[in-house]
Amino acid sequence: MTDQTITSVSREHRVFRPSAEFKAQANLGSESTYKRLYSESVNSPEKFWDRMAKEHLVWRKPYKKVLNWKPPHAEWFVGGKLNVAENCLDRHLGTARENKAALIFEGEPGDVRTITYKQLHFHVCRLAQIFQNMGIGKGDRVAIYMPMIPEAVMAMLACARVGAIHTVIFGGFSPEALKDRINDCQAKLVITADGGWRRGKVIELKANVDRAVEGTPSVHTMMVVKRCGNPVTMVEGRDVWWREAWEGAPNYHEAKAFDAEHPLFILYTSGSTGKPKGVLHTSAGYLLGCKMTSQYVFDLKENDRYFCSADIGWITGHSYVVYGLLSNGATIFMYEGAPNQPEPDRFWQMIDRHGITILYTAPTAIRAFMRWGDNFVLRHRLDSLRLLGSVGEPINPEAWMWYHKMIGKKRCPIVDTWWQTETGGIMISPLPGVTPTKPGSATKPFFGVAAKVVDDQGKEVPRNTGGKLVLTQPWPSMLRTLWGDDDRFKRQYFSEFPKHPDYYFTGDGARQDEDGYFWIVGRIDDVLNVSGHRIGTAEVESALVSHPAVAEAAAVGRPDELKGQALVVFVSLKAGHTASDELKEALRNHVGKEIGSLAKPDTIRFAAALPKTRSGKIMRRILKDIAAGATVKGDTSTLEDFSVVASLQSEE
Ligand code: WT7
Repeated sequence: MTDQTITSVSREHRVFRPSAEFKAQANLGSESTYKRLYSESVNSPEKFWDRMAKEHLVWRKPYKKVLNWKPPHAEWFVGGKLNVAENCLDRHLGTARENKAALIFEGEPGDVRTITYKQLHFHVCRLAQIFQNMGIGKGDRVAIYMPMIPEAVMAMLACARVGAIHTVIFGGFSPEALKDRINDCQAKLVITADGGWRRGKVIELKANVDRAVEGTPSVHTMMVVKRCGNPVTMVEGRDVWWREAWEGAPNYHEAKAFDAEHPLFILYTSGSTGKPKGVLHTSAGYLLGCKMTSQYVFDLKENDRYFCSADIGWITGHSYVVYGLLSNGATIFMYEGAPNQPEPDRFWQMIDRHGITILYTAPTAIRAFMRWGDNFVLRHRLDSLRLLGSVGEPINPEAWMWYHKMIGKKRCPIVDTWWQTETGGIMISPLPGVTPTKPGSATKPFFGVAAKVVDDQGKEVPRNTGGKLVLTQPWPSMLRTLWGDDDRFKRQYFSEFPKHPDYYFTGDGARQDEDGYFWIVGRIDDVLNVSGHRIGTAEVESALVSHPAVAEAAAVGRPDELKGQALVVFVSLKAGHTASDELKEALRNHVGKEIGSLAKPDTIRFAAALPKTRSGKIMRRILKDIAAGATVKGDTSTLEDFSVVASLQSEE
């Protein structure tokens, strides 16, 4: 992603083979089996996915057709019916898993709860009944704005159970961002909590929702979980405490079956232009993708205790906290708070305390752990761990090696998993019992994933040449459309190569090495990846220009050791406003208010003018060089006024 990463990655030649011991116990431990299955999965996809859908999912009504592909629209398992919540819960009842922990939760203050499959089923059934009594059913949208607590998982599954479409909104988003998302999907019900714990403080979620729903006429009910006990205002007739809604609700709920293509959830994510996109995932294909990848990539075993540090507000939380793991009957460990609360060894302490066997986290977190120092790790044994995962951005080889040695004690395979909100599940990743790993490479495609690196025309480039990463065949867990904007869906993902209207464009740059391994370089569109969070430059810019002092703004990424990319904005002011540190702070807060703290710029630079082409387009490429402190490279002949660049460079 950063220039630094690219050069250090291109010098990386170390190879780590799976140990004989790991291989022997792996769900998939033979390279020839991987090759055979992979080749079947891309050459005869319908035959392959037919077998997988029967093996992995519980159907109420068999499908008639595996795939209906009219690019860019895919329908999988046409005519089939199932219930996603039933596939995550009911299927384990009456088996040895019934009294197994589905969820082990640790709150930031240290409170621990264990919930078995039987208990989780009970809670979800009761909540499903409550939803029905509230008039929430098939196709209705439900917004979930919650801390990482078990009730968040219950809320998602109860939606799935009644066929309602959930949209989980990360607790770090501001009331303004929350309002836009609720309005975009016209949610009727919002589920929240009084607050959530973060670094010893209460994040006031209910108060944020109160502000958001002032502008959301579609919302008629708000359910509130009591988590922190902070004071909240309950509005009569609209707001109801989770606990009170529960009293007297029947705990038996017969689930209806829904179409394989019934929408399961909408998840908003940043794109290169305009407002956030509501990525739509449907039921059977999405679940199949999550279930299979969880089983094979994490090599899930009955006794595993699996910890994914992502918040359920992101796709990683959807697929690899909730759906992929519960459908496999695994035990998930869920942590509410910050990794350095009370001290930077919180993760390692919890791993020892709960006997966690699999850890799935992000490079930005790994780099923070490195910076906090080895001593925090060395206090703990970490001998329960057997597999490590990475997701969210390219992992630099230095961080990979530290993860391997310091956390994995050279014993645990690392799976560096490349995928996106849009892909629903992991697409490129090692299989831990099969694939030799190279630090910094996501290695090889998963079953059914036809990944290619192509040039601007869509023609595959030779090995070791950079290009655009595309997926040339549909896959079951792919997004189906963007909520309410099918045109944007086509434009965004299926219009990059006019000659290949069936190629899905990922927005990422990549190269394949001589062994066919994929090395992801990072986004090549106007999307930034700051600490593994996806931020659209256009969103930040439009937040900035909505401030009365700002005439124009441009946001770019700058390589950052910790965050991967840092957010730098260039701002020119309207007449009558003067640059000052106070104004910088005001602008940072303004972006925080419009989007959320995660989008607050790291650096704000005032500029008399921004570099533009003669047709008035801001030349971000130049600003990127300036932000990185590099000399401006490339062609500047299209610049309208070079003195703008000269003056920007002479500052700072
Ligand atoms: C973008 C997707 C996938 C869940 C979390 C992020 C980058 C993600 C990797 C990886 C290199 C990665 C890509 C991708 N990315 N994982 N292992 N190696 N880059 O989901 O917010 O939809 O972002 O994250 O640039 O396009 P997301």
